[in-house]
Amino acid sequence: MDFKNNDLSKVMFERHSVRRFDTSVKIPREELETMIKEATTAPSACNLQSWHFVVIDTPEAKERVKKSVMKFNYPQLDSSAATIFIVGDTQSHLVYRDVWNKVREAGKITQERLDQILNTFLPLYEHADQSFLTLDATMDCAVAGMQLLLLARAHGYEANPWSGVDFKTIISTLGLDPKRYVPVMAVSIGKSAEQPLKTERYDVKQLTEYL
Ligand SMILES: Cc1cc2nc3c(=O)[nH]c(=O)nc-3n(C[C@H](O)[C@H](O)[C@H](O)COP(=O)(O)O)c2cc1C
Repeated sequence: MDFKNNDLSKVMFERHSVRRFDTSVKIPREELETMIKEATTAPSACNLQSWHFVVIDTPEAKERVKKSVMKFNYPQLDSSAATIFIVGDTQSHLVYRDVWNKVREAGKITQERLDQILNTFLPLYEHADQSFLTLDATMDCAVAGMQLLLLARAHGYEANPWSGVDFKTIISTLGLDPKRYVPVMAVSIGKSAEQPLKTERYDVKQLTEYL
């Protein structure tokens, strides 16, 4: 992988939310798609991959989504080269067979193993209620979102995750079906135009227990 920054400790431990970007820097859509593709190497529940991405990289699109965005998030939306909305797909199980059929066709698993996987996991999702599907999709998106944040740095950019939106309207504002998709987070990406705040973390001893 031809990363600009391939040092994991620098990518991870020197990451901080950047909310003001250099507006003269654009990111080619090809590179955005590469980053999304790389982010989707993330694990997901049963490999359902319940994520969907909406890229906002034009002034028109930014204006269009603003009505569902909290005002304090306007700076990163306005100045980012691209803001990628990661939304959960609660119907990902409808195409679940395809992903496993590919694995079978590539000869990586036997027909018996394929049947076992589909018979174990598909009924779980086919009979699940919306809150289960929403939670599952949200977790998948969160892991992909974290990957995207690190990948942005690996590609030489900075980023900010944000979820300060109107959860009731954002999905339809993005032109998606609110019965199917659920909001999770946006990731604004670009070249930094600020020195980010070095935030603190709680003491791990207070956070950790052993059972
Ligand atoms: C789920 C989630 C939602 C967030 N929402 C917002 C937001 O709406 N606006 C914002 O400016 N930052 C948002 N953030 C960024 C956090 O404020 C930031 O990650 C935190 O303060 C730690 O700072 P750091 O990212 O610089 O380490 C969000 C982060 C996460 C993970």
